[in-house]
Amino acid sequence: CGIVGYIGKRDAAPLLLEGLQRLEYRGYDSAGVAISGKSGGLKTVKAKGRVRDLDSRLPKRFAGTTGIAHTRWATHGAPNDVNAHPHLDADGQVAVVHNGIIDNASEVRAKLEADGVEFASETDSEVLAHLIGRSQADKLEEKVRDALRHIEGTYGIAVLHAAFPDRIVVARNGSPVVLGIGEKEMFVASDVAALVSHTRQVVTLGDGEMATIKADDYRTYTTREGSRTAASPETVEVEAASYDMGAHDTYMHKEISEQADAVDRVLRGRIDDRFSTVHLGGLNLDPREARKIRQVKILGCGTSYHAGQIGAGLIEELARIPADSEPASEFRYRNPVVDPDTLYIAVSQSGETYDVLAAVQELKRKGARVLGVVNVVGSAIARETDGGVYVHAGPEVCVVSTKCFTNTVVAFALLALHLGRIRDLSVADGKRIIAGLRKLPEQITEILAREDEIAKLAQQYTDARSMLFIGRVRGYPVAREASLKLKEVSYIHAEAYPASELKHGPLALIEPAMPTVAIVPDDDLLEKNRAALEEIKARSGRILAVAHQEQEKADHTIVVPKNEDELDPILMGIPLQLLAYHTALALGRDIDKPRNLAKSVTVE
Ligand code: G6P
Repeated sequence: CGIVGYIGKRDAAPLLLEGLQRLEYRGYDSAGVAISGKSGGLKTVKAKGRVRDLDSRLPKRFAGTTGIAHTRWATHGAPNDVNAHPHLDADGQVAVVHNGIIDNASEVRAKLEADGVEFASETDSEVLAHLIGRSQADKLEEKVRDALRHIEGTYGIAVLHAAFPDRIVVARNGSPVVLGIGEKEMFVASDVAALVSHTRQVVTLGDGEMATIKADDYRTYTTREGSRTAASPETVEVEAASYDMGAHDTYMHKEISEQADAVDRVLRGRIDDRFSTVHLGGLNLDPREARKIRQVKILGCGTSYHAGQIGAGLIEELARIPADSEPASEFRYRNPVVDPDTLYIAVSQSGETYDVLAAVQELKRKGARVLGVVNVVGSAIARETDGGVYVHAGPEVCVVSTKCFTNTVVAFALLALHLGRIRDLSVADGKRIIAGLRKLPEQITEILAREDEIAKLAQQYTDARSMLFIGRVRGYPVAREASLKLKEVSYIHAEAYPASELKHGPLALIEPAMPTVAIVPDDDLLEKNRAALEEIKARSGRILAVAHQEQEKADHTIVVPKNEDELDPILMGIPLQLLAYHTALALGRDIDKPRNLAKSVTVE
């Protein structure tokens, strides 16, 4: 979901809608806007669907220089006009937009209903509007604090009140809120993406913090005590242009195409040729501690979890530390044994995924050391971890992750090399890996140059009802991520399996209507992988191989350049991002915004 707010001299509605458009990638089943009008009172418009649907509903006269807006991804209640935010109190005096989830909403609602309050929607968020509206406190800030005292759960909120037209009050607990400081105007948003075309000066609220913004002033304070906090603006590095699509038709295409530059960025300034290692300035892990690590546990969700799987392989291979990756969402619900000699690593593009954040918080509470491999600088997970490696992929807007996946894996290669060189990785191997890393951007460019060929290939798979993706050891997480990509964006069912497990079950599925994509690197398992291809061919299966040389048993081979064995997985997934993209394009899918998905899942 996304929040935007504006207070200043300009007409608020167009600015709010522009901000919403920039946030749409975070959730997009309904949207709404509330303006405090010149004549007093609040005006609200909401619409199911995209921001453009909201735009078409705005009345001609919707003037006002203060407003809040929201784009929603449904958790409580179906996506429709009524459930869209902003939510109003009974008198229509208070408007609230809310990200997050209120755990005790049904109890609070039952109490309010017993008191005669009538609810307009099915959402958990509406209770906030009523609580604020009913508070007897004098000031808006006090009313909001009053209301929040009754609430358990996570929130990022922005509140407008007809009786206080000179301000917007915002609060944060677990769901991001940033203020954008302009010239005699202020912005508020849940993501800097909505602000950077207006100002690069931002204040990021911490959990348990609130702020009042007026056109020419802001102040921050604690939610619990109301005591002032010192929050000074920082300049965000991101260029507004990096949120634009440029010459591409979709963000997914843009982001796939940017990968050579992105990888160059994650490497830049980090390689240390003198000691054949890398510098990771934010790691906060001294060599003596690094030597004591007996195990590494990586936690992430979705694509980040898959990046973590390749990362675990790299750490095992280069640093010889047992490592594995688990979905953070599973980990946090199984009362895990937290081991003092284990290094925990949280992986997240957004740095906001609630399941990952909750896992980090639980680990920290139990005294574990947790590092982050995160893309968004200053995000909740980046702040909550003890140190880490920034992924520097730049803003990623398409819901499905591509360039951030690749950069995350490269960040893991850096971390693995760093840990390896503190432990037993030789200088010679360090040099070899560094040389391999340096080759990556050029090799990515080589792969991307084969887009036309891959686009043609994709045409042949649009009729598939289901596809099998196989890989072995290093290739298996590549297969998993490639299958996820295809599912997410083309809606073709896909399943990934270790090639070694084929004969234990999935071979039963093989027939011409069930094509297989096989990851076949030129490493010590090449012959084993070839044998798997043979088994599939013998059962009349169609095969698309991603390999370092033509595969005789495959119907098609996408040949990718060879790097070091350990680094090959970084490259082998890239043609399959293009395959997923072109399959989805051929099927006419909504590529940047696949149905039912959101870029960041900040709720449970
Ligand atoms: C959502 C997105 C996925 C993403 C996952 C984890 O489910 O749709 O593309 O991989 O969240 O996101 P994160 O920001 O933590 O990497």
